[in-house]
Amino acid sequence: MGTHQSSMIKKKLSEDAPSETSPDFAAKLEKSSLNSPQSDAVKRSVSISQTGTSQKYELRAAHVNALVAKTWNPNDPQSWEPEMREYHALPNSDYMLPNDAVEQDRLEMQHYVYRAAFEGDIVCPTVKQLVQSPGYKILDVGCAKGFWLKCVKKENPLAECHGVDISQTLVDQSSPETDGIFLQFGNVLETLPYEDNTFDFTHQRFLVAGMPREKYPDALRELIRVTKPGGWIELVEADVVIYNAGPYSQTLTTALFDGFHRRGLDTYAAVNLPFYVKQVADNVENKEDKVLHLSIGWGSKMGILFGADCKAGVLGMEDWMHKSMKLSRDEYRQLCQGCYSEWPEHKSFSQVRALYFQVKK
Ligand SMILES: C[S@@+](CC[C@H](N)C(=O)[O-])C[C@H]1O[C@@H](n2cnc3c(N)ncnc32)[C@H](O)[C@@H]1O
Repeated sequence: MGTHQSSMIKKKLSEDAPSETSPDFAAKLEKSSLNSPQSDAVKRSVSISQTGTSQKYELRAAHVNALVAKTWNPNDPQSWEPEMREYHALPNSDYMLPNDAVEQDRLEMQHYVYRAAFEGDIVCPTVKQLVQSPGYKILDVGCAKGFWLKCVKKENPLAECHGVDISQTLVDQSSPETDGIFLQFGNVLETLPYEDNTFDFTHQRFLVAGMPREKYPDALRELIRVTKPGGWIELVEADVVIYNAGPYSQTLTTALFDGFHRRGLDTYAAVNLPFYVKQVADNVENKEDKVLHLSIGWGSKMGILFGADCKAGVLGMEDWMHKSMKLSRDEYRQLCQGCYSEWPEHKSFSQVRALYFQVKK
């Protein structure tokens, strides 16, 4: 994108800057600055994203490339034309991402990227062993169409796999290919449809966009309730921040921060996960975590695929973002193009944390 176009967009954005920017938001932005000590630490360990993956979890190129093509096919307007996308129709929901088949393909593609990055579907080493036992009962909260559960079940056929999602459409569309996967509607912000102490392992990944900050501890209490004493819980969340951001990505991130903060959502879920868990500390033991940094659109094959995932993600938000940023659709797309080209140049990356703990006996 030319400098002239870019400064036009930036000028327009600064003229229309949201008036209700909260001090909290400003402080978070300050914190996100690449000069902060936290980001220096992040920068130092960025090489983690470039480590190879074990053969077992290597990205299955043909399958994943097919998903990329379905998600991001220039010849298929449904993969990028916002008028053709479908969004969650939930009461009081302002979820920014679509709810359609293209978005499900993106999430599945993303699933394979994280699976390769964490070298498995499950991060907790103890659970990786236990899950092989007959009848080991697993719950995935926010399971979408159940692609995480399908991978777990394939590797651990003796496990009993359950999933809940707030989207009845997704649950209805899912077609678990294996017996022993049970999906149903469930909202972790209310009461999950299970008795106390039901599961040996409860997994929840990437719910930050639908989980206001002040509700996260209550949601954790709900996960603890349905997990057996001595059972394990694993949470995986990513920051919404693009680290090592260039000017376009910084602009995009600022608008995303604003949207998240207006909805009371956490833009630093990977950073803040330990603080949420601290609030339920009385019920928790043997807590550990693992933080990864994924390059966006550069470096390893994983980074290139993660770039495709991020591209599809920001396009999926076009409907909401262009209005919120007071840009035309064309201007928003130009901004996205600017981001794509600067990710490799600036060595941009994303931060994700997997945190697991045992429910006290
Ligand atoms: C970003 S997707 C992540 C899907 C999957 N967990 C993964 O890691 O790929 C978030 C999913 O959580 C679901 N969700 C959002 N809020 C929820 C809630 N309160 N309770 C249950 N599911 C929820 C959404 O419908 C969506 O399918």
